Amino acid sequence: MLDITYPAELPITARRQDLLDAIRDNQVVVVAGETGSGKSTQLPKLCLELARGVDKLIGHTQPRRVAARTIAERVAEELGTELGTTVGYTVRFNDRVGRDTSIKVMTDGILLAELHRDRRLSRYDTIIIDEAHERSLNIDFLLGYLKQLLPRRPDLKVIVTSATIDTARFSEHFDDAPVIEVTGRTFPVETRYRPYGEDDDDRDQVQAVCDAVDELGRAGSGDVLVFLSGEREIRDTADALRKLDRPGTEVLPLYARLSAAEQHRIFEPHKARHIVLATNVAETSLTVPGVRYVVDTGLARISRYSTRLKVQRLPIEPVSQASANQRAGRCGRVAPGICIRLYAEDDFDARPEFTDPEILRTNLASVILAMTNLGLGDVEKFPFLDPPDSRAIRDGVALLEELGAVTPDQAADDRRLTPIGRQLVQLPLDPRMARMVLEAEREGSVREVLVVAAALSIQDPRERPTDKQQAADEMHRRFAVPGSDFLSLVRLWDHLATEQKARSSNQFRKMCRTEFLNYLRVREWQDLHRQLRSAAKRMDITAATGEATADQVHKALLAGLLSHLGMRDKETREFNGARGAKFQIVPSSPLAKKPPPWVMAAELVETNRLWGRMVAGVRPEWAEDLAGHLVKSSYGEPRWDARSGRAVTSERVTLYGLPVVASRTVGFDRVDVDEARDLF
Ligand code: CDP
Ligand code: MG
Repeated sequence: MLDITYPAELPITARRQDLLDAIRDNQVVVVAGETGSGKSTQLPKLCLELARGVDKLIGHTQPRRVAARTIAERVAEELGTELGTTVGYTVRFNDRVGRDTSIKVMTDGILLAELHRDRRLSRYDTIIIDEAHERSLNIDFLLGYLKQLLPRRPDLKVIVTSATIDTARFSEHFDDAPVIEVTGRTFPVETRYRPYGEDDDDRDQVQAVCDAVDELGRAGSGDVLVFLSGEREIRDTADALRKLDRPGTEVLPLYARLSAAEQHRIFEPHKARHIVLATNVAETSLTVPGVRYVVDTGLARISRYSTRLKVQRLPIEPVSQASANQRAGRCGRVAPGICIRLYAEDDFDARPEFTDPEILRTNLASVILAMTNLGLGDVEKFPFLDPPDSRAIRDGVALLEELGAVTPDQAADDRRLTPIGRQLVQLPLDPRMARMVLEAEREGSVREVLVVAAALSIQDPRERPTDKQQAADEMHRRFAVPGSDFLSLVRLWDHLATEQKARSSNQFRKMCRTEFLNYLRVREWQDLHRQLRSAAKRMDITAATGEATADQVHKALLAGLLSHLGMRDKETREFNGARGAKFQIVPSSPLAKKPPPWVMAAELVETNRLWGRMVAGVRPEWAEDLAGHLVKSSYGEPRWDARSGRAVTSERVTLYGLPVVASRTVGFDRVDVDEARDLF
């Protein structure tokens, strides 16, 4: 028999009986509480106590791998069992679930993937959706799917946990499910604002963190938790802090790719002062114990879809006030704390109150792609917490058809992914950019296209400060490539690679500044590129050695930009685009002065007029090869061609109304009879 006990000091323990009653008497229960109150580690044990997880499993989902593993370890330890027996976990590349496992902790992506084989989730009698307030796409998919499933699985129980943010939404979604609050005592946190990089202050983020850590060192003893935007920033900052070599301190990075042992050290008892460097994983999903001080850069990598630019990005962005307050709250758990924010108070005041759910930040084409892949059915009928509007859904479907990712013209329920669609799902990119990468393999331009696709997914690292535009333009002009804004990105990339090798990281950072390049965005570019390269490698897409020709690069890019093609109007210099749109090349592009007859644009930006940004000249006949599923042919009158001794006609090929083949002579026997029927 298992000995199930609950740590007396955790706030959730005080509500044990209420929770047991609520879970027993309701199909869905919402549990809300501040980080550290014991939701993640104690709820699975309460379920065990109710004899759940005996014949079937208690499934427990986490947004992140790090959290799934540490929670499983902790629960196993509290139950006095080996990991992989009563308590197991499954994350990508790692499965520690055994025959007699009752509690299976996993990432939400794993549970979604299981739907393929098990539509009714019949292996589970209980599902805990942890961290629902994060409102990632995966969480919204699960909450929608469970809502549909619950009437058909009366024996299935669902527990939704959330930080104390907007819990009423979850309750409403599940037909007014009861909400139980388990928040315990918290202590006051003093907030100090210490912005950097303003006016004459030329400190960067790394330096600002070091200074804040020093300031807190003078404030008293206790561990420090630093919030940074990514693994790269964590490593840079860790290096700098270790170099300072403050006696009695220990620097501990925390991110997904660390080994379990390294991650474990955070939770072990220690004498030295810990300085834990984490991403927003430590905001609500991992409680780093004993934290007295927080340093908050105020930044996170947030996936965001720009409706204006119609592309998906992963920019580093200021976090919302709610997130910043969660971060500050991490040092008020055991005693009064101090939080240093590395930004100004009016910056904080100007921030949005909450982070939008991911579905409102994501390209719907990506959402539909993911849903079709998971077999979640018609997007329009799916019970989302925040349903997207139908026009946006139609645009999304149209884009997927353009990219050849879904079977065309199918009713939503019959829509399937094509082989291209199944590959697009595997690339962590906007579908347009992902399509370019696939085509690059065929064209032999993978190296260049990975660089371009990564660049198009972030904010342009080239800066043009208003008071120094000319100087900036001069610096950037060094990378200009005639006829292609895309190839100038590749040239810039190669320049950065060479210079970075020749310099210390400090010198490189300085060089970026003098060359009007945003260092953080350069790093972001490099990070994303590395991620893409390994995702591509998993799909056996690897870069050939040697350089691709401009045509090889542009053909691949065009595969993702078919509806961003334009044909120059000889008189107006304007371009006629897809479906009757008209656009001009932005004046800052070198191509604006002498525009080629045909261009493709990475972005079509609507301001007072429609502008094509990031453009290159293309040959229209490429579009015919790439868009076989979209082009339309029309034919002239048949006539006899004496020379070849056969009937011929003229063919005109259009793509979204643009004549990619203006007129060519084809043998009449080649005319598709169905299309030519009108002629007879
Ligand atoms: O989910 P919630 O934020 O409400 O709390 P939790 O993750 O269940 O954490 C409850 C307590 O367990 C916290 O005080 C954590 O520090 C502790 N814990 C731990 O010591 N080691 C772990 N691997 C996980 C949690
Ligand atoms: Mg938790």
